[in-house]
Amino acid sequence: MEAFAKFEHEGWQRVAGKYDSVWASSTRQFIPPLLDSAEVTGSMVVLDVGCGPGYVAGAAGERGATSRGLDFSKEMVAIAQKKFPHSEFQEGDAQNLPFPDATFDRVLANFALLHLPDPERACAEAFRVLKPGGKFGFTVWAPPEENPYAKMIDDAIQAHADLEIDLPTGPPHYLFSGREEFRRVLERVGFNGASMIFKLHSIRWNVPSACYPFDAERNAGVRTAGLLARQTSEKLRAIQLAIEESVRRYAEGDSFSIPKAAHVVAVSKK
Ligand SMILES: C[S@@+](CC[C@H](N)C(=O)[O-])C[C@H]1O[C@@H](n2cnc3c(N)ncnc32)[C@H](O)[C@@H]1O
Repeated sequence: MEAFAKFEHEGWQRVAGKYDSVWASSTRQFIPPLLDSAEVTGSMVVLDVGCGPGYVAGAAGERGATSRGLDFSKEMVAIAQKKFPHSEFQEGDAQNLPFPDATFDRVLANFALLHLPDPERACAEAFRVLKPGGKFGFTVWAPPEENPYAKMIDDAIQAHADLEIDLPTGPPHYLFSGREEFRRVLERVGFNGASMIFKLHSIRWNVPSACYPFDAERNAGVRTAGLLARQTSEKLRAIQLAIEESVRRYAEGDSFSIPKAAHVVAVSKK
């Protein structure tokens, strides 16, 4: 798993400067339901884990909360600090949070858990740094059967990619398989499973061209980019054409409006 952490760290450092223009229009749409599910209000102290450019900390700050952000990418931390000067950002590992026990009212992680070698450990750390009665809220991409964007990428890869390549092993792409497994993991680290909110939230990602998603995955992604970088040019071309064909189904005028879905989860520390 150390190799996976290194691979992820190098990847996020490399693409940090592109994240805002490429992915934010998708991931930011999940922040209002995330904050609502975790019931973030003013006067709370909130931690944004895997904060990237700091959107969750910024949005919690807009609700009146005192927010901090943490990311293991120095580049991301610098971008976040510039973008949201009223919040405080620092480098650190989601699986080993540099905060004392019972510090925060809310710990939030928007699309961060899927990138960790040990997501359960990050859940345990969130539990530890929450005050009693605090809530942990996070989002994870829904699997292809519930998520048309994931399905188009996954179908193209399954059909055309060489999967026998040398890539560091990470956690499952869509994390735990369904509501009950999420509940079990969260209970195992101490959360009150009965309090768990688990919702599927869908958005539309508007992109300017049919080639945009493939280019985004290849040039501004990390895990899929690693897989694409290890393909022959023929296989890469076949993957690209398959993705573009799927994207065209979502044409709307001059652009493309692709459905994407994620699970929004929130749970309380008893
Ligand atoms: C998909 S981005 C999500 C960014 C942001 N939360 C958002 O709402 O768009 C994942 C972020 O997790 C960070 N990350 C990955 N592994 C991490 C770790 N072990 N500890 C802290 N941050 C990590 C990456 O640097 C990246 O900024």
